[in-house]
Amino acid sequence: MKFFLDTANIDEIRNAAEYGLIDGVTTNPSLVSKEGRDFREILLEITRIVDGPISAEVVSTDASGILREAYDLAKIHKNIVVKVPMIKEGMKALKQLSKDGIKTNITLVFNSNQALVAAKLGATYVSPFVGRFDDISEVGMDLIGDIAQIFANYQFSTQILVASIRHPLHVREAALLGAHVATMPFKVLEQLLKHPLTDIGLERFLKDWEKVAKPSQR
Ligand code: G3P
Repeated sequence: MKFFLDTANIDEIRNAAEYGLIDGVTTNPSLVSKEGRDFREILLEITRIVDGPISAEVVSTDASGILREAYDLAKIHKNIVVKVPMIKEGMKALKQLSKDGIKTNITLVFNSNQALVAAKLGATYVSPFVGRFDDISEVGMDLIGDIAQIFANYQFSTQILVASIRHPLHVREAALLGAHVATMPFKVLEQLLKHPLTDIGLERFLKDWEKVAKPSQR
């Protein structure tokens, strides 16, 4: 499973890259707006930190505008993946982008038919949002299971990029379902490594070692 970081914050990306754990980055207009910086500058800086797929989202909602932005974004760096919303005009643009070999990430996917359409049109990734279902007391992960089954039935090459992840259990469940990618906030990435029993166990090992260790071994 690939781990992407869902952020446009350079410090978080640099910090996570030090773990050697992130395989890519996803951004979106809300995440970029939080940084208060030029979008292209942020993208260029990310390409210098992470050598992997970096999703950059268009903001046009008409096919010609989406295409214009997509070709512009793709020129920034070979790792740029153009993020396109799951709307009719986005699907018109997707068909052309697929023909032109532009890597795409279809975002704001909330049912399996949307994912099926994007896969049929050659999307590189689909981003089903799980957290926003959980936020309204529904089970977002059910969608991942459906998409995984459909994609397996027809051997689609489109990758399932689980998005809108709120906590480590989303990552576990996505992995159990065979999703290709989990994109997560930095906080969730850090939580993946932690367990209180690990900390307690290590403390006990070190305390016991202190009893027998020679001064040079402390
Ligand atoms: O960036 C796409 C997605 O992961 C954002 O989800 O619900 O945290 O805004 P959300």
